[in-house]
Amino acid sequence: MHAYSVLPDDINPLCVPKHVAVIMDGNGRWANQRCLPRVAGHRQGARVLKDLLRCCKDWGIEALTAYAFSTENWKRPTTEVDFLMVLFEKMLKKELMAMHQEGVRVRFIGDLSALPPILQKEMNLAVEETANNTAIDFNVAVNYGSRSEITMACQQIAQKVEQGAVTACEVTEDMIAEHLYTQGSDPDLLIRTSGEQRLSNFLLWQLAYTEMVFTDAFWPDFDRAQFHRALLIYQRRDRRFGNASDAVLLQKAKEKAALTA
Ligand code: FPP
Repeated sequence: MHAYSVLPDDINPLCVPKHVAVIMDGNGRWANQRCLPRVAGHRQGARVLKDLLRCCKDWGIEALTAYAFSTENWKRPTTEVDFLMVLFEKMLKKELMAMHQEGVRVRFIGDLSALPPILQKEMNLAVEETANNTAIDFNVAVNYGSRSEITMACQQIAQKVEQGAVTACEVTEDMIAEHLYTQGSDPDLLIRTSGEQRLSNFLLWQLAYTEMVFTDAFWPDFDRAQFHRALLIYQRRDRRFGNASDAVLLQKAKEKAALTA
């Protein structure tokens, strides 16, 4: 049996993030180190993503969101962009049946209208086919940019205000979240590989209280052992969402009990 086929013993099931997001960085450098073309890094990166999705499902994680192509990635050489578009299409075609059988619900976030029509068609098919699956949500960000996502949400809400459907004062955080591609599901853990420590226009709104783990490993080397390490770091974190730490709250409770004794 695979050493990591079940949740490792040292991870508390209660401390497993429900939603994991990944910035898959370092494909090019991984390929360079091996004197391979950059696209070989992307190809291996896709394999790694596939296994991470399966791992998340095996370990009881409810959602995986992956940053596959940003609005800025169009600046890359045309050959690389074209390769990525074909890779997405091929992976979708090849993996759709298996994902469907494994209960994966596939969704895409980003402006899909700028993508090659054949790819859009595969994406729509995957979304429709898997819409009722419940084992795990797999969200793939393609032609995604967080600032443009937030701008789009603002425009849609402003339109509703113009039409008199809501007043400006009635605009809430929940309303904004519902107008984002992610529709209110925020990651608990963000992992970025390759030693870079920035968000690169990814999920700026949704990551407000997300724990972040940065690793030096290049994405094509990010295996289950690496993911295990990230979860160990995550479960040691004290998530307070702006509240005081447990130790402070305990001390306060003790003080209150002493006063009323
Ligand atoms: C960043 O590494 C990686 C990308 C821009 C592409 C990520 C895409 C994949 C891993 C394929 C995913 C496949 C599917 C089906 C969703 P980089 O190229 O910026 O690496 P570098 O910083 O070392 O140059």
